[in-house]
Amino acid sequence: MPHAIKIRDFTARDEVALISLWNTCELTRPWNDPALDIHRKLSGQRDWLLVGMLDQKLIASVMVGYDGHRGWINYLAVHPIHRESGIGRLLMSEAESRLRGVRCPKINLQVRRDNREATAFYEAIGFTQDDVVSFGKRLADDSIKENERGSQS
Ligand SMILES: CC(C)(COP(=O)(O)OP(=O)(O)OC[C@H]1O[C@@H](n2cnc3c(N)ncnc32)[C@H](O)[C@@H]1OP(=O)(O)O)[C@@H](O)C(=O)NCCC(=O)NCCS
Repeated sequence: MPHAIKIRDFTARDEVALISLWNTCELTRPWNDPALDIHRKLSGQRDWLLVGMLDQKLIASVMVGYDGHRGWINYLAVHPIHRESGIGRLLMSEAESRLRGVRCPKINLQVRRDNREATAFYEAIGFTQDDVVSFGKRLADDSIKENERGSQS
């Protein structure tokens, strides 16, 4: 039930539960270290990492960013047993509200091509597919752990 959900900013004590949620929701990949992703996010400014709490349990998340031109959404996750009850919509509504608050004109997000559930979700909440090709260039390989980096460089 969405109304029982409390959405709040992430705190350091949430880290283990948040990474566990991302693993459960299959959002982690070998080339992304989730702990590093959290720490990088917290070192940024004007950005938000939000968690959804139900009965003191962390069951949802969304990472929101604003680069001065577009708002960005990452790590949107709802625990499988709480899906399709409006929690994802609620989190995206909070993300949108925060972005509107900084006068962000548009939200962008990327969905893996095979993630049909997420595509259906975003379409259901009013997003449309842009006619663009997404490019990326990796600047850090998180699959190489920090302690290995020291001996390599
Ligand atoms: C995508 C996700 C966050 C949706 O969360 P949710 O809480 O289940 O979504 P909601 O209940 O708020 O659904 C909102 C709307 O999307 C629709 N929707 C949600 N999941 C859907 C699915 N799998 N198939 C079709 N429609 C879906 C709902 O029917 C609802 O539409 P309605 O309001 O018209 O009835 C959740 O499925 C999830 O965590 N998935 C795994 C992680 C992931 O892929 N994240 C996105 C990365 S880009």
